[in-house]
Amino acid sequence: MPAKDLEQIVNLCKRRGFVYPSAEIYGGFRSSYDYGPLGSLMLRNVRDAWIRAMVQKRDDVVLIDAAILGPPQVFEASGHLANFSDPLVDCKNCKQRFREDHIEDTTVCPNCGAKDTLTQARAFNLMFKTFAGPVEGSGAEVYLRPETAQGMFVNFSNVLQTSRKKPPFGIAQVGKSFRNEITPGNFIFRTREFEQMELEFFVPPSEGPQWYEYWCATRMQWYVDLGIATDMLRLRPHDADELSHYSSGTADVEFAYPWGWGELEGIAQRTNFDLNQHATHSGQKLDYFDQSTGERYVPYVIEPAAGVNRAMAAFLLAAYEEDEIGGEARTVLRLHPRLAPYKVAILPLSKKESLMPIARDIFDRLGERYMVEYDDTQSIGKRYRRQDEIGTPLCITVDFDSLDDNAVTIRDRDSTQQVRVPLSDLENEVRIRLGF
Ligand code: GAP
Repeated sequence: MPAKDLEQIVNLCKRRGFVYPSAEIYGGFRSSYDYGPLGSLMLRNVRDAWIRAMVQKRDDVVLIDAAILGPPQVFEASGHLANFSDPLVDCKNCKQRFREDHIEDTTVCPNCGAKDTLTQARAFNLMFKTFAGPVEGSGAEVYLRPETAQGMFVNFSNVLQTSRKKPPFGIAQVGKSFRNEITPGNFIFRTREFEQMELEFFVPPSEGPQWYEYWCATRMQWYVDLGIATDMLRLRPHDADELSHYSSGTADVEFAYPWGWGELEGIAQRTNFDLNQHATHSGQKLDYFDQSTGERYVPYVIEPAAGVNRAMAAFLLAAYEEDEIGGEARTVLRLHPRLAPYKVAILPLSKKESLMPIARDIFDRLGERYMVEYDDTQSIGKRYRRQDEIGTPLCITVDFDSLDDNAVTIRDRDSTQQVRVPLSDLENEVRIRLGF
């Protein structure tokens, strides 16, 4: 049974060092989070799993890493300066602010319940503005990107020339984006600073619909392959009034969060909107000449856009389980081995010097390939519980028999079964059990 409420995950994350409230010693910085020793490893695993599926295992996608700060021209062309806003209303009674599109009845304040106290909606632009150089003022404004996508569009020609790709092909990027969200919340689900994993997939215009279908199915499957049960996922096409200013059709991969279905990832048909806009605003041609047909065209774009932090929240919620082992309650994170912060924990049964050389040698050997934890504190039972709770798929126990039989015990997180494995076969056994 996955986590029933968000508090279970929030508490585990704090207790075990996945996620801390940001600037906590100063009372916290609202809706900002810092990722601790385990959380930072897991974030990296989410990114790596995405890059592996979207770039490494394909020959039609390349990766870039573009700047976070951008000049106004980019966001004028993209439409973000004019259109990237949420409708904001204030309650004149309790002074709280809300997104009008998140309120069911606009005649009643959702916070204090007062009637007819909400102001008219005004468009609130979500981009963070700052100033480059020592003088604050007009001409020095720059923006923190609200999506990584524009980095792919403005580099379209650079990548086309240097990578020698041709449509259909994609440009992928993983990196931070910033939005001055009116109502951040639900832990790491919606924050003002977050990380995206986006692909802009450029196709001949006539192939747009088929690639849209392809990417909707492929992206759903990615979450399933990484351990989320199919009944916790669904694909929901956007209604016309939900579409972004650039989209001719979008579907959300939704996840069954404890508070209901919500967006995990969006897959949008951005048509040739962005390339046309940047071509017009920059005066540079952003098209493709197909030598085989003699045709010149502006490619259409299909964009699967996911969030690293939001995906991490979903993976944690889906993996959380409380079960009973030998009459004793335990909490276990049944994370996919690729997502688990540590793949293996090395647990010498005692701190005695004699066990150390073998345990340290295993740590060094497996550490060549995997993130491995070494833990020789507390009782073995407590150490197993801790590893279960942080999702470590395998524990290796070094005991006094190991000195004689040159073997160790491998314990499986999910079944809790233990098997004796010769040291000479350890790497092989671990690789088979983890699947990589
Ligand atoms: N380039 C298209 C784009 O940015 P989006 O649906 O606004 O589309 C894509 O964002 C994904 O980025 C979302 O599905 C979500 O996973 C993540 N995301 C967006 N805003 C976020 C926020 N404020 N906090 C955390 N993740 C966010």
